[in-house]
Amino acid sequence: MINLIRNKYLNRRVIQQFYFNLYHNILFRKGNKDIFNSGYHVFDKNFPFENINLDKYLNFPNNNFVSERRKIDLVDLKKIYDILSKIGAISVIKDYFGTKIYSYDNSVLTLGNKKSSDGSFQPHHDSKGRRIKIYIWLNDKNLNTHPLYYLKKTHKQILNWKKYEDTRFPNINKKKFDAIYGNKGNIIFFDTHGIHSHFKETDVPRSVIELTFEPFGLLNRLNSKNIKSETERLGLIDLDELIK
Ligand SMILES: [Fe+2]
Repeated sequence: MINLIRNKYLNRRVIQQFYFNLYHNILFRKGNKDIFNSGYHVFDKNFPFENINLDKYLNFPNNNFVSERRKIDLVDLKKIYDILSKIGAISVIKDYFGTKIYSYDNSVLTLGNKKSSDGSFQPHHDSKGRRIKIYIWLNDKNLNTHPLYYLKKTHKQILNWKKYEDTRFPNINKKKFDAIYGNKGNIIFFDTHGIHSHFKETDVPRSVIELTFEPFGLLNRLNSKNIKSETERLGLIDLDELIK
């Protein structure tokens, strides 16, 4: 019985969710309410592409694939972060997490002309606890491309999971999701703890810069016990070190 209560209510994920609500509702009332309330946010400023050449991340001999990722070099990454910091986008993430932040998995993600209903093209949450991804749209708006699908408010509902299948929701109707289409330079923040993505049923390619941010702390997946090994495993970048 005690074990049942402990597993259900006293685990790190549940306490983290409780603290997250407390932090945003009572302790910290500034910052962006949109991400906290719905799980995603379209930033009010566009990304200026000055001095950044992304051609090498975007050239493919053909588009006969579902999706391809190309890792962004540290030199380009620094430029991107400097711009994001200058226009206030990094502050949005800092306000959301309220703690030290690491970044990784920074790449240009291109969707090709193949369709898919597998893996990350099923509705899912990322099973990493709370994280933010930024998408910076690299194409003009086109409703024939695959949008970012997001099921609003689910970032506050997911409490626990045990296995991979618990993180997939292929039976939720696509109509229930918000379909977010970006225009070139649009910046979208979304919490990957909420249910996102859906079957890719379109064949028009599109690309985004995809950046991942994860908080560090006692209640988080990244904490003092594992930060050394996770830094090595994931190539974590300390955001404060990169932006000075
Ligand atoms: Fe995901």
